[in-house]
Amino acid sequence: MRNLLNILDFSVEEIDALIAVAKEIIACPSRFQDACAHKILATLFFEPSTRTRLSFESAMLSLGGSVLGFSDTASSSTTKGESLADTITMVSGYADIIAMRHPKEGAALVASMHSAVPIINAGDGGHYHPTQTLADLTTISRELGHFDNLRIGVCGDLKYGRTVHSLVSAMSRYPGAKFVLISPQELKMPDFVKEHYLDAPGAEYTETASLEEGIRDVDILYMTRIQKERFPDEEDYLRLKDSYVLDAAKMRLAKPDMIVLHPLPRVNEITTEVDDDPRACYFRQAHNGRYIRMALILKLLGVTE
Ligand code: CP
Repeated sequence: MRNLLNILDFSVEEIDALIAVAKEIIACPSRFQDACAHKILATLFFEPSTRTRLSFESAMLSLGGSVLGFSDTASSSTTKGESLADTITMVSGYADIIAMRHPKEGAALVASMHSAVPIINAGDGGHYHPTQTLADLTTISRELGHFDNLRIGVCGDLKYGRTVHSLVSAMSRYPGAKFVLISPQELKMPDFVKEHYLDAPGAEYTETASLEEGIRDVDILYMTRIQKERFPDEEDYLRLKDSYVLDAAKMRLAKPDMIVLHPLPRVNEITTEVDDDPRACYFRQAHNGRYIRMALILKLLGVTE
């Protein structure tokens, strides 16, 4: 049985194959509409979500399967003191596959140790968010057509940003990847990401606090939200929350064929005027998430349509 806890659980070849299936689904969704008939997805969301939970649910429903779960810890027996281990033991008797989001780093790993069915990490605290990375990679493939020799700028909350941790680990496996890490001093990329993925031979990165400097020669600009919910001290959040705002003036500094990604939700780090720029791919990126999650469910359930 396979789980998806970390994007590196899948080889580059497996990710290529998943993206190929997602593209087949986009081209002909009706071919897949009954592929998961009589299968059940449980979505256990101990943290808020719009895109990840709803795209998982849309994915399973579009495959002919069914969905159950909760979107709020308060409506689960966790509030009565039930452990995550017991919750997972129960739910894995009710569903064929589980997508779980949890505020604690490593929670998806714990869940996998108590589950009789595949576990998908839909975000574990400030650690990883591998299915966001699948959506990111699908978007890069559809927009740019390749993964090699790309310069990737990641901007904002690199410290707590689970989406950038997963993206950097995934992109570091492709030849010629170069990273520009754009963050305030207090939100720099954590050592566990640098040591595992960026300090490896062949990986290259630079760091800057300036978006105006970082944007100039990147092929991909990955903007992120400063995440209020991850700050132990609200004063620090208030001081840092407006560190970066991507607007039309800054977009004029960028390459004409750069693409802008963002896992969303955004607050004010990308102005709405940027939405009309053809380089702004973040809404297409979110829609791609539905199709790559369909491909992921098929893979983990071992379903061939
Ligand atoms: N990108 C992402 O994880 O969005 P949600 O928090 O809305 O799921």
